[in-house]
Parts: sequence; structure tokens; C-alpha cells
Amino acid sequence: EKAGFEHFMMKEIHEQPKVVQDTLNSVLKDGRIDLAEVGLAEDEIKDISQIYIVACGSAYHVGMAAQYVIEDMARIPVRVELASEFRYRNPILDPHALAIVISQSGETADSLAALRLCKDHGIRTLAIVNVVGSSIAREADNVFYTLAGPEISVATTKAYSTQMMASYVLAIQFALVREQITEEQYTGYIKELQTLPEKIQRIIDDKERIQWFASKQANAHDTFFVGRGIDYAISMEGSLKMKEVSYIHSEAYAAGELKHGTISLIEDGTLVIGVLTQPDLYEKTVSNMVECKSRGAYLMGMTTFGNYNIEDTADFTVYIPKTDPYFATSLAVIPLQLLGYYVSVAKGLDVDKPRNLAKSVTVE
Ligand code: M6R
Repeated sequence: EKAGFEHFMMKEIHEQPKVVQDTLNSVLKDGRIDLAEVGLAEDEIKDISQIYIVACGSAYHVGMAAQYVIEDMARIPVRVELASEFRYRNPILDPHALAIVISQSGETADSLAALRLCKDHGIRTLAIVNVVGSSIAREADNVFYTLAGPEISVATTKAYSTQMMASYVLAIQFALVREQITEEQYTGYIKELQTLPEKIQRIIDDKERIQWFASKQANAHDTFFVGRGIDYAISMEGSLKMKEVSYIHSEAYAAGELKHGTISLIEDGTLVIGVLTQPDLYEKTVSNMVECKSRGAYLMGMTTFGNYNIEDTADFTVYIPKTDPYFATSLAVIPLQLLGYYVSVAKGLDVDKPRNLAKSVTVE
């Protein structure tokens, strides 16, 4: 059942090119996005005043990345909230807003409660869900099914990647309908999405390099993932992967926040992972990495092929294929999934069932 892999997590990492492609194909018709099955009509898209994205854990991290893409591309205000906070804080809800609830299982108690809260306020709800017929899928007004297939490993990988794809599709369609992008940009973005599966595959093919690096990190106590903008959202997911399967304390920081407190934690040899996929923010994050280095940090830098001057700063570098900066999350997350996985294996831990965790959190 693990198809020759030692763990489900690795099997699911390898399934990503296919399931990301499947999820994209499910909403493409003659090369264009068709949300008829999801049930979102153009007039409804035009009327959206703002978007609330509500989720937990990795699904929340998808929301964080999606926020940057949707706001920038479609110019719709987006708020991303942890379901467990949102539901208890008596939020002020705009009746013309769209609530997007993201959940692999469709059974997460807090996400379900948040969905019900939105419905009680008469707000249209769209669920991005993997499990067909799950509670969230049944109760939402609209459902965008991710086609990740059953995900067994507690640490999500392929569901996350398909949720990202669903988010891009929504962003692009919203942007077109609301006339924020040209027809040429629209077809260009769809074309770029089509290239992601093959690029993800290329990163997976290079996994031994990450394995080598991971084997050296098994004794690490603290790890910091830093980035700006979309790279910050990617850092959050990388950090969660690290702590959940490898039991190494790790934190994600917006790189610009380091000097507001966190940098005092950097000691000789502390591992700092800089995520640098966004061209506009590249130099800024490099300066933050230099600051960490001068306090003794051991630096891993992840950026796109071509940015070779990262080697002046980082002790270890990982390059990912070029894509549109909007879609970089889908590529940059792969080495970070592999890193968490290989550190866990190097430590001899239970990769697929980390201690204290459940696949689906159905209690509040
Ligand atoms: O089933 P859901 O997507 O609603 O689950 C949300 C989180 O519990 C989940 O993403 C969790 O954070 C994962 N174990 C992360 O790998």
C-alpha cells in the first residue's frame, strides 16, 4: 500500500506532480478555467466585497500564501484567520463577503464551526476540501474539491499542494472576471500553472541533496525559517513540517521582524533557513540572513536558479526552478517537506504518525 516507499509521507510527496495536475485539469475546459462545477457564477464573483479565508494548521498556511496572490492579482481584500480564533471572537462579518474554508479532511471541528458561523450570518461559503462528502463539503454553499486522493500521513504534503493549486485557480478567475488582468496575462498564468507538475517532479528527483543536508541536522535544537511576503507563508509551512515530524523546535518569522526580538535567539550554529523566491524582496531577505550569519547562524538559502550570489551568504543552497513569483509556494514547499521527512528518518522517528498528533482534529 506504500507503493514501495518506506513511509506514506514519502509516497505522498511523490504523488504531488500527478495530483496537482489532476486538480488543475478538473477545472479546465478548452484551456480556460471553468468554475461551473464549483458553482461560482461571474456575477457572484463580481459582487464579492472581501474574502475571509478560515482554516487550521497547514490549510491556514495555504490561506496565508493565497492571500498574497488573491489580493495582488485580483485586488480583493483578503483576511486569513485561524478557525479556532475566528469562531470565538464575534467577528464583524460583511454580508457581501465570501468565506473560503480550507480543509483536507473536511472534518476539522474549528473549521466546521467557523463555516457555520459564516452561514449563520448569511455569508456565502466556499469550501476547498479533499474528502468527498465530509461535513464541511456537505455544509458549504460551494465546494472546490482537491483531487489529492486519500492522505494517510499525519503531516500533509499532497493535500497542501492541491489546495495551493485551487487557490491559484480562484485568484486567476477572480482577477479576470473583475478585469484586473488582461486576457494575455490570464492565458499566461494558466500556461504557467501547467508547468508546475513537471517542475515539482524535478525537485523531487533531486531529493538526495536534501537528504544529505538533513542527515547533518538531526541534532539541531532550534530552526528558524525566514522570508518576506509569499516567502513568509512558505516559511510557516516549512517550519510546521519540521516540528511536526522531526520534533525539532522551529519557528517561522517574517524576515523583517527578526531584529524586533527573535535575533537574540541566534547562537553559534543555529540553523536559519532563508526562503527567497520573490525577486522584489530578495535583497531585503539576504540582508536579514547576513545579520543572522554575523551572530553565528548556519544558513540554508533557498532561491530560484540564477540567483547564484546567494552562495556568498548561505552555507548550503537549494535552487528551485523558475516560475511566476505568484506560484513559487508550490515549488519551494517541496524541499521543505523533504527536509522535515529526512530529519525525521535520520532521527529514527515515527514519520507517518508523530507523537501526540491525529490526522484529523475533530475535537475543539
Ligand atoms: O483536515 P484539515 O486540513 O482541516 O486539517 C488541518 C490541520 O489539522 C492540518 O493541516 C495539520 O496542521 C497537518 N498535520 C499539518 O501537516
